Parts: sequence; structure tokens; C-alpha cells
Amino acid sequence: MKILLCASEAAPYAKTGGLADVIGALPKALKQNGQDVRVIMPYYKKIKEQQIAYYQGYAYVRIGSQTEYVGVFHAICDGVDFYFIDNDRYFYRDALYGYGDDGERFAFFDFAVLEALRVVDFFPDIIHCNDWQTGLIPYILKANYNGYYEYNRIKTVYSIHNIQYQGIFPMDMMQILFMPYSSSLEFGGCINFMKTAIMESNAITTVSPTYKNEVLTDYYGYKLNNILGLRYFDFEGILNGIDTDKYNPQTDKYIFKNYSIKNAIDGKKANKLELLKEFNLDCEDVPLFGLVSRLAEQKGIELLMPILDDVINYSNAKFILMGSGDKVYENFFKMMESKYPNRFKCYIGYSDSMAQKIYAGCDIFLMPSKFEPCGLGQMIAMRYGALPLVRETGGLKDTVSPYNEFEETGTGFSFTNFNAHDLKEVMFLAINTYNNKKGVWKKLVKQAMEKDYSWRQSALEYINLYNKLTK
Ligand code: GLC
Repeated sequence: MKILLCASEAAPYAKTGGLADVIGALPKALKQNGQDVRVIMPYYKKIKEQQIAYYQGYAYVRIGSQTEYVGVFHAICDGVDFYFIDNDRYFYRDALYGYGDDGERFAFFDFAVLEALRVVDFFPDIIHCNDWQTGLIPYILKANYNGYYEYNRIKTVYSIHNIQYQGIFPMDMMQILFMPYSSSLEFGGCINFMKTAIMESNAITTVSPTYKNEVLTDYYGYKLNNILGLRYFDFEGILNGIDTDKYNPQTDKYIFKNYSIKNAIDGKKANKLELLKEFNLDCEDVPLFGLVSRLAEQKGIELLMPILDDVINYSNAKFILMGSGDKVYENFFKMMESKYPNRFKCYIGYSDSMAQKIYAGCDIFLMPSKFEPCGLGQMIAMRYGALPLVRETGGLKDTVSPYNEFEETGTGFSFTNFNAHDLKEVMFLAINTYNNKKGVWKKLVKQAMEKDYSWRQSALEYINLYNKLTK
């Protein structure tokens, strides 16, 4: 089967979050199952400057009263074909998002993707769109290409990676779209890309079974829950995987010492001591908390704010936290660092190599998210034998089994309500288990590392869905 994945980011070319990891890894897994899968994304400045892609041809699309150039470039990465949409006006910029004309930029991208099929002569069976930036594709396909056989037979899948970001723009965007009005496009008096996709795709997925159930409720649905309800029977949750080649403590070149499940306790201790040294902390074998995250409201950092003083004052735990984003959280991290110079360190920003050192070196990996469609950090943490401490939401609930003191089962720690003091209780449970029950800790680390979070199973679920649609 021929599949085209469309997204606004994909590792290793452009990444701001988990979406890029998924679009980087899923095609490899689909390919291993014999599918002809290709990826299409914008040709951002950062990619263009590397000069790694080859020119394939061009087309034009109409945006408002203008005709816009659509260049198509091609590169191969790990055996997967990547196409890039070139247009300097829209994509030759420093950042991926955050511009006043983001709506126009990605509307352009959505028109361009469909024209690019002709340029490269690849007409897929399935176009698989992801998040709001690609939300208009299913609609444009139906509205503009109805009379063309190669287009007419294409089925569309739309995956929601985060329902908080919907691509909402004023109605005068209709002038840019230059298409007849359809009620699919509109929601709450605005153009809403995600709502359009939910209405117009053949199937909708999201990235974990629990998040699927959550987004059908008022609390998690960010107003689209009832729209999703209309498509209930075409909506499913398929858990993400992680790239188990990239994230492998046995071969990871970034970490201080490689280790496997057999020597995990010693291996992790060696990594921890080096990591502490790197951050100028005294090298002691105390419970080390790690965090690697975008610092957005979603991630639950606000729960740490009222309780971290207590945790630091009443325990021996240390903290190494990495992330960037909302200034409120960045400033909180910096403030804690100056208050507790030998207990708390932060790295404001993101670095792949440092992230991997944190996964390998920390004992407890924090993810107290308010909501988490899937979450990749907790799966990477388990693979490195760091026990995730999570709130039971979305993919966190589907992947971390909480420590049961009586049966000594589990692969991490969890709490249910979005409440700082519940979080504090569980942090102390984790700290006490680490300090006083070495045998149990060893068992939990082993259980965590034995879990399989590769893409193998999920790729099969996507293939099932594609088959169902094209049958
Ligand atoms: C978004 C979600 C995250 C998910 C990722 C990949 O970043 O916030 O939970 O893991 O997309 O699907």
C-alpha cells in the first residue's frame, strides 16, 4: 500500500516536540511491514540551508488573489523518502511556528501537498495527516479534486497529537482559501483547521486509547468533544512507540557508560555520578529526579511549584530538570537553582545528548502532566531504567503501571488527581523506596526495562486501519 504522511515537523529535519519523533519513527516501522510510505513537510530555512535535498519540480497554487510557487525537493533518510515543500515567503524563516500568518502558511502547505503529488507522480492510497497544520488537506482533496481519478480514490486519516492546538483563525481567512464556504470549516464563528479535519477525514485517530476517551469529555476536549462524538465510530486511539534504536542504553553514544538490563543498577549509578559532576553537584548516591519537557501548561509544572521546597527540605533527593518554554516555569527553575545550589539544577533549552544523559542518569523521571495525549518521555525513561512518576492521564496511564507495595509489581509511580499534595506524597513514596528498599527498586527497574515500547505493535494497528479504509 502507498501511504503519504503529512506533518509540519519530522525528526531529524525539524523538531519542536513529540510530533517530530513520531513522524520520524512511524514510517520506518511501516516500511518494515512492507508498505511504501513517504513523508511530506515544509522546507524550512534550517533544512534548506543544509542542502541535503534534491529538486524534483514545481507547481503553483492559488492563495487569495495570488499565485504561489510550490517547489518540491526530495531526500532519503534511513530508507524513507521525504518530500519538502519549498516556498521562501512562507517557510524560509528561523522558527517553525509563531508568526502572525501561520494560518496562511499552513493553508498554503495543505494546498501545496496535493499539487505535489502530481509533481512527483506519487498518488497514495492513504494520506495520513497530523495535527492542525495539515487539517485542511482532507477538505481540499474533496472540494477541489473530485473529478480526478488518481485523487478521488485517496482515503484520509487524521491523527490528533494535541487537541489544545486547533488552528483557529478569523473567518476572513476564507479570502485566502478562495474556496466555496462549507460548514465543516467553521467552528464557533472562526475557521478551525482541526475541526475541518475531524469532519472531512475518513478516519480519525489519536495517540493513546485513554486520551481517545478523555477528549470525548468537556474537561479534555477543548470544545471539540461533541464534534468528535459525531465521528465516534471512525475514531480510535493507537499508542505511539519510541525509536528503540535511537533510545538504547546498550549502544547510546551520548551517555557516559552503556548498560543493559543485566547490569542496570551499576550502569545507572555510573551515569548518575557523571551527570551530577557535569552539573556541579556533589557525587552521592541519592535519589535523582529528572525531567525533560516542553515547559507548557500541559506538562503540570505548576504542581511542582508549591511543594518542591518541602521535598528538598525533608529528603535527600536531587533534581536535574531540562526544558524551555513558558517564562513562568523557566524562572521558577532558575529561582530554585539559586536557592538550592547543591540540590537543584536546570538546563533551560533542549539538547538531545543532554536529554539522553538525563534519562540514563536519573532514578525517577517526572511527568505530572495535566493532560498527555501519549507522552514519549516516560517510555524512553523506562527503557533507560529510570522509573517514571506520572499523573494517570492519556498515554501516561496506558504505559506506566504504578508500583504496588504488596505485590512489588509496577514500572513507575503515579497519582490520579491534578493536585500538588498528591504529587508530593508519591514523590516521597518514590524517595523512600529508593533509599530503603534497594531490592524492590532493582526489581522495578528490571520490570520497566523489560517493557516493549517499540513501534512494532502500533505500526500493525495503523496498517489494519489503512486496510479497512481501502478495502
Ligand atoms: C504531542 C503530545 C504528546 C505526544 C506527541 C506525539 O506533543 O503533547 O503527548 O506524545 O504529540 O504524539
